[in-house]
Amino acid sequence: MKTTIAKLNEFVGQEVQLSGWVYHSRHSGKVAFIVLRDGTGLCQCVIEKGKVADELFDQLIRLGQESSLSITGIVRVEPRSPGGYELAVSDAQIICPTQDYPITPKEHGTDFLMKNRHLHLRSQRPWCIGRIRHTVIDAIRQFFNDNGFTLVDTPIFTAAAGESEQTLFAVDYFGKPMFLSQTGQLYLECAAMSFGRVYCFGPTFRAEKSKTRRHLTEFWMVEPEVAYIDLPGLLELAENFVTHIVQRVLKDNRAELETIGADTAHLETITPPFVRLTYTEATEILTSQRTVDFMAQQLETFKKQKTEIEKQIAEIETAEKAGGLKQWQKDKNAKLLIDLRAELAELEVKIENNPKHAQLAAQFQWGKDLGGSDETIISLMHDKPVFVTHYPRDAKAFYMKTDRGNPKVVENFDLLAPAGFGEIIGGSVREDDYQYLLNRIHEEGYDPENYSWYLDLRKYGSVPHGGFGLGVERTVAWITGERHIRQCIAFPRLMDNVCI
Ligand code: 4AD
Ligand code: MG
Repeated sequence: MKTTIAKLNEFVGQEVQLSGWVYHSRHSGKVAFIVLRDGTGLCQCVIEKGKVADELFDQLIRLGQESSLSITGIVRVEPRSPGGYELAVSDAQIICPTQDYPITPKEHGTDFLMKNRHLHLRSQRPWCIGRIRHTVIDAIRQFFNDNGFTLVDTPIFTAAAGESEQTLFAVDYFGKPMFLSQTGQLYLECAAMSFGRVYCFGPTFRAEKSKTRRHLTEFWMVEPEVAYIDLPGLLELAENFVTHIVQRVLKDNRAELETIGADTAHLETITPPFVRLTYTEATEILTSQRTVDFMAQQLETFKKQKTEIEKQIAEIETAEKAGGLKQWQKDKNAKLLIDLRAELAELEVKIENNPKHAQLAAQFQWGKDLGGSDETIISLMHDKPVFVTHYPRDAKAFYMKTDRGNPKVVENFDLLAPAGFGEIIGGSVREDDYQYLLNRIHEEGYDPENYSWYLDLRKYGSVPHGGFGLGVERTVAWITGERHIRQCIAFPRLMDNVCI
């Protein structure tokens, strides 16, 4: 019976055939262990000499990492095997024997792994993250489909800026200039006047000259848009939406979360209501003594953690130097060292940045957009996601509705994920008054001709409406605890690196 590793629980005591790749193997004279990877999980396959033909045994023990093969055997419960089951092997067909696979359990730098992204995708961490991303996307669609939203696919070729003209990618469209879409929002607003509740979900392009861990030039964004909604209504929609995504991942991907060491206890706490702060309150926090103390305390913690990790690394290195370790101990140490050195490098960056970020926060002036480090500080101070609302009008996009009670600010929000992660959603109520909108278009120096259809929405049956955009990679990075969002999409595009 052909099956997959994920379904082995249905076949205990029976003979099955699995097809996959060698993830890891070791052998003594009489018994060989191949940990097989088949795309659904890992399974230890035990090959005893005498139970398979001698010639096959010899071939199997020579298979290198990532050799492909089908293995037949009886399924046994084995708590020490990665998925809880193992295979007592009776036969195997080798499909492509492989030697010298470039990615080994040894330490590899990010550049090397990105150049080898076509192979790196098979490694455990990218696999876990890919599975979690799949659930996130499925949960997104499920949420909107179950809540009365109609999917509208908005175009990727666009004639006008949706966000900022500085981050447009221009393309030559049969001799005419066109741009790759920064957002589906403006089109979605048209559709909301037809269907009421709509969403679009697709690739988004930003020529952002930022080399930060939060920026891709091509990323996936889901955007809902709702007719007859106000800011409190939007915040409620956003918190229910994010909670739904996190709960689905906890339900479907607990094993993957645990394998990559994600903080599941923290994810369990993600329930409504989230924290609500106005931009003005956020700036007051940033420039307060509370932030000075908080940053000082952070620095202390980072330094303590650094000392602790340095100690652990030194201990492993001493053990390695002393020699006499078994191969499996060396492999385990190699893996541990990769993790510890990565953690150390991260802490060193944090220690270096802490005083700079503290200074930026202390000098923050009302009117500026919140910077990455400011968002980090606000989100680190709260255990739950934080909505920051009512940003200064001049720092934000032209389409956001001016707050009629305080025309210096707009009715918008950003959602900051906790644990220092920062913005995962940006949204707003849209300016629904023709004259206000036209003025903003002029102020930005945009050509109203390019926005005539967008202005029409404010002429014919204009209604209060709004929506938001959630970045998939940033959401996956936050949920998985992955520092850099390039690991949260199969083939990342960054300003200075497009992998393969
Ligand atoms: O805040 P942004 O720019 O909002 C919009 O595009 C609105 N038009 C959305 C709307 O109201 N319909 O982007 C929304 C989200 C951000 O919060 C972030 O998660 C993600 O998109 N994002 C990026 N993700 C990766 N790389 C980038 N360069 C990103 N820029 C934005
Ligand atoms: Mg934003």
